[in-house]
Amino acid sequence: MKTSDKRVALVTGANRGIGFEIARQLGLKTFRVVMAARDEKKGTAASARLAEQGLDVYNTLIDVTDAISIQAALGRIVDTFGRLDVLVNNAGIQIDGETDIMTLARDTLLRTLETNAFGPLLLSQACVPLMKKNRYGRIVNLSSTMGALNDITNPESKYTGIHSPAYRMSKTLLNAVTALLAKELRGSNILVNSVCPGWVRTDMGGPRAPFSPEEASATPVWLATLPDDGPTGGFFRDRQPIPW
Ligand SMILES: NC(=O)c1ccc[n+]([C@@H]2O[C@H](COP(=O)([O-])OP(=O)(O)OC[C@H]3O[C@@H](n4cnc5c(N)ncnc54)[C@H](OP(=O)(O)O)[C@@H]3O)[C@@H](O)[C@H]2O)c1
Repeated sequence: MKTSDKRVALVTGANRGIGFEIARQLGLKTFRVVMAARDEKKGTAASARLAEQGLDVYNTLIDVTDAISIQAALGRIVDTFGRLDVLVNNAGIQIDGETDIMTLARDTLLRTLETNAFGPLLLSQACVPLMKKNRYGRIVNLSSTMGALNDITNPESKYTGIHSPAYRMSKTLLNAVTALLAKELRGSNILVNSVCPGWVRTDMGGPRAPFSPEEASATPVWLATLPDDGPTGGFFRDRQPIPW
């Protein structure tokens, strides 16, 4: 087993959208970035684009709903780099756009929870032992204001007309994962936070969204590079704490 001299970051769903941009920005900050994708061809093409720009990137296969693929990828990270410093749980789906809570199908809910909440938990469980070895870790969970109970219960919210109950519940659960992991890991120098990137121009956000992936990645990258006395167990947007 080798030990990398550089900090190693793992980003899920890094082949496009916000994940690709977070990988790029971490690469520019001289991280060695492992770009995870569930499709090998897409993952290879994405990492080749960043390697062409001179960034230190690798690609690995991870379907966040598949525990075996997570374990296999972590095994490769241990063998190749011997360390893991940052985990960005970015991969996500929103497949229930117009569905409301009364008509939401069990299968849609399950698929969404598996990807957006169970996946980040499984990845965290797999990565934390490696982070503990170096007494250093940063875990960033890409959440959404749409999952904040504070927002769901606010009739004045700008999102009030948007249904997406499975997506919203998955992000509420992801925030609970953040809070519980942070509580468990307090004092270990492994800082765990949720972030809402805003409404972003990606395949998920669509072309009318106000923020570019570059703008949206600034706060996740800040959380991924927090100093040891940085916050843990928080929910952030534009580098400011927001209510759960
Ligand atoms: N865009 C927004 O306005 C917005 C707002 C708030 C929060 N967010 C959150 O930010 C994150 C990134 O969003 P985005 O806008 O960049 O979305 P996106 O453009 O739709 O990209 C989603 C990424 O997740 C990957 N993915 C989906 N299911 C996966 C699985 N089972 N295993 C591994 N990878 C999987 C996709 O891979 P494939 O290419 O293989 O499909 C893709 O790389 C998500 O968690 C999202 O909920 C986005």
